[in-house]
Amino acid sequence: MNSIKSANFVKSSPALSECPEPKLPEYAFIGRSNVGKSSLINCLTNRKKLAKVSVKPGKTQLINHFLIDNSWYLVDLPGYGWAKVSKTEKAKWKLMINEYLQLRENLHCVFLLIDARHEPQAIDLEFMRWLGESEIPFVIVFTKTDKLGKVNLQKSLDHYREVLRLEWDELPVQFQTSSISGEGKDQILEYVRQINGR
Ligand code: GTP
Ligand code: MG
Repeated sequence: MNSIKSANFVKSSPALSECPEPKLPEYAFIGRSNVGKSSLINCLTNRKKLAKVSVKPGKTQLINHFLIDNSWYLVDLPGYGWAKVSKTEKAKWKLMINEYLQLRENLHCVFLLIDARHEPQAIDLEFMRWLGESEIPFVIVFTKTDKLGKVNLQKSLDHYREVLRLEWDELPVQFQTSSISGEGKDQILEYVRQINGR
């Protein structure tokens, strides 16, 4: 019922000023390199190769806009925390992403992707802090749930929430997803529909 009917690549932009006109509601996917942003976009849109997926981290380097059902945008952003990137590259990323996230007027919500298997990482917690301080609405998406058994997944996510509670009075909305099994897909699309319908 929630499924996407059309998904089209619009453009890749090196800066906010080159992004498509901010006329439609927009949702951006961000997170560490290799966390599964592009894969999740392909899963949500039922398209295998819409967003580029890679074995090597760092495949996505620009702000990529996809037009969904001619009524909203999905945005694939380059990942952060890639060890092999130079300081200059990191600074460039930060400038581009911060400008986009802080000034994109039609950005309704950021989906921050976190690998469900990993211990909370400083870089993600810091990024969340920055989103909070900048008053940018975001939700958390735990990815690659297919890689853990039920019990370990629960343990891992419980631990993550405990760590979040140390600094957040109210926890952000959370989703559990797998681009392999499609878990979480309907929930994310329903969430977007709800916001678009407001
Ligand atoms: P960058 O563009 O480099 O920042 O990476 P990304 O976050 O877009 O990750 P991408 O979607 O390219 O996926 C990285 C790797 O993880 C690929 O080898 C994917 O096949 C794998 N992967 C992504 N999502 C899932 C998932 O839900 N389950 C499993 N098992 N593997 C996944
Ligand atoms: Mg990518």
